[in-house]
Amino acid sequence: MSYIDADIATNRKNGQIRLHKPEDFAGMRRAGRLVAETLDHIAPFVEPGVSTGSLDARIFEFVKDHGALSATLMYRGYTHSSCISINHVVCHGIPSDKPLREGDILNVDVTLILDGWHGDSSRMYAAGEIPRRAERLIEVTHESMMRGIAAIKPGNTTGDIGAAIQAYAEGEERMSVVRDFCGHGIGRLFHDEPNILHYGRPGEGAVLKPGMFFTVEPMINLGRPHVKVLADGWTAVTRDRSLSAQFEHMVGVTETGVEVFTHSPAGLDNPVAAKAA
Ligand code: MF3
Ligand code: CO
Ligand code: CO
Repeated sequence: MSYIDADIATNRKNGQIRLHKPEDFAGMRRAGRLVAETLDHIAPFVEPGVSTGSLDARIFEFVKDHGALSATLMYRGYTHSSCISINHVVCHGIPSDKPLREGDILNVDVTLILDGWHGDSSRMYAAGEIPRRAERLIEVTHESMMRGIAAIKPGNTTGDIGAAIQAYAEGEERMSVVRDFCGHGIGRLFHDEPNILHYGRPGEGAVLKPGMFFTVEPMINLGRPHVKVLADGWTAVTRDRSLSAQFEHMVGVTETGVEVFTHSPAGLDNPVAAKAA
């Protein structure tokens, strides 16, 4: 941690939520766009036979070539430029030499730093043809995230976001929301206040105000919600080994609603749906 980080980090301890200035939105737009372009860039390379380590290497190069730093490289001992989580891996999968197999689904999560601002986003991809239930899980997970984002405006609360996600994924679609990981404030810091739970009750939590920056990144399981972390200290898997999916956007609260910083310029917000179309 640099001295500058240490200064900003006191805000996290205070439990205060930073309210960013209009000019800060410009920095987040640039960081968000670059992480979205990174996720666009790897889409054509996701195929059976390709290793997640080689996808991570492409991400490393792309981020570096565009003047950014990987935020996960050397973060709390993590040594990669992405997390790649296959099938029943919920999140924080470590890129490896193992090749993807036909029918695998995978989340690729990239966080970078551009001019001091963090860009954090993830999407689901498919290796070859995937089962119908996997396709449905991915569709429901993307829609869950978008329903959470649709609940964001000044005066609403973080609980409104979680409640919208849970009502859809569990209430309507009979899938499970993972409780053990949440979205987070972001900006000059990677993980800041507030926590964004992907479940909850309307009206609970912190009141949203213009200038707040945070992620919405629901993990949805086909089976039960419970997860465990493997002995490597990172890889989180479903306890019942059911399939899991995740999407992540980074947003800012505006005077009237919400701005999504991480939309795909290539129309690949949901690469699996784009491929099927
Ligand atoms: N990008 C993840 C998030 O959405 C965090 C990954 S931290 C790592 O918050 F160290 F596992 F890479
Ligand atoms: Co995040
Ligand atoms: Co992320």
